[in-house]
Amino acid sequence: KTARDALATMPKAELHLHIEGTLEPELAFELARRNDVPLPWGTLDELRAQYRFENLQSFLDLYYALMRTLRTADDFRDLMLAYLRRAAADGVMHAEIFFDPQVHAFTDHVAYDDVLDGLREGLRIGEKRYGVTGALILSLVRDMDVATADRILDMAQARKDEIVGIGLDSAEVGYPPSMFVDQFARARSFGWHAVAHAGEEGPADYIRQALDLLHAERIDHGIHVLDDDELEARLIRDRIPLTCCPLSNLRLQVVGSIDDHPLPRMVRDGLVCTINSDDPAYFGGYAAANYAALAGAGMPPDTLAALAANSIEASFADDADKERMR
Ligand code: ADE
Ligand code: ZN
Repeated sequence: KTARDALATMPKAELHLHIEGTLEPELAFELARRNDVPLPWGTLDELRAQYRFENLQSFLDLYYALMRTLRTADDFRDLMLAYLRRAAADGVMHAEIFFDPQVHAFTDHVAYDDVLDGLREGLRIGEKRYGVTGALILSLVRDMDVATADRILDMAQARKDEIVGIGLDSAEVGYPPSMFVDQFARARSFGWHAVAHAGEEGPADYIRQALDLLHAERIDHGIHVLDDDELEARLIRDRIPLTCCPLSNLRLQVVGSIDDHPLPRMVRDGLVCTINSDDPAYFGGYAAANYAALAGAGMPPDTLAALAANSIEASFADDADKERMR
C-alpha cells in the first residue's frame, strides 16, 4: 500500500465542502450546453486558464460565473453524485455539505425546491451507491442583500427537517457576522446547527462574533484565531472545532506555501482542527489531496490520523453513526 492509499483509506468526515465548489470545468461546459447558458470561454482550455487566484474575491468571481450553469434539479443531482463518488474514493464516510441557495434562487432563478430536490436525490442515490452519508448546510451569502437571506429562510422553513445546519460564506471582509444575528437565531429555532466562515481573510474578531452573536458550533477556516491569544485560549478550552482547508488557503494566497501553513502550530497549541477541501474543483484536490499535501509538508501520520478522528467527532452525526465511521 502506498502512503497515498493510506491517506485515502483513513476513515474521515468532510465538514467544509461547497457543493458548487465541486463543479469541475468539464461538467460546467456540459451543463452550459445542456441548459443553453452562455459562458465567456470558448474552450475548456480557455476556461482552465482562469484558475489562478489572487485572493478570495478573484476565486468567487469564477465560482459564481460557473454556478450559473446549474439550472435544474437533475443538474444538482448529477453534481452531488459526481462529488460523492470522489468522496468515497478518498475515504470520506460522511459529508456535511454547504449550498448557496440565495444565488440559485435570486440570481439564477432556480426555485429553492428544485435545488433541494436535486441535492437530496443525489444524497439518497449516493448513499446507496457509494456508502457515503451526507447532510446539507444552507449557507447564507454574506455579500448579498440581507433581505434575500430572510426570503430564503422563508422558503426553507417548510422543509426544515431536510437541512442540518445554517452556514455563512462568500466575501468576508466588510461583512461581519453581526449582520446576521436575526437570521441565525431564526435558523437555530428550526432546530438547525450553526457554523460560520470566519477568520479566513477576515480578522479574529469575526470569529468571536460568530461564537458570541451567531452561536456557531464550529468555525470554518478560523486560521486568524492565531492573531488573538485570548480568543485562541477560549477555542482550546471550549474545544470549538475549526474546519481548515489547506489547499484552499494555498490557492487563495491566505498562506504563501503549504510548508508555511499554520496547521501544525494550531494542532500543537491544542486547537481542535480538521482537514477539509472547501472547493476542490478549484483548488487542486479533494479530501485525500489535502491530507497528502500536509503529509508532503512533513505532518506525521499519527497527527493526520488524529485530525481524521477529529473530523468524525466534530460532525453533526449521531453517536451510532460516528461509531460506524470509526
Ligand atoms: N464560498 C465558497 N468557498 C468559499 C470560501 N473559501 N470562503 C468563503 N466563501 C466561499
Ligand atoms: Zn468555504
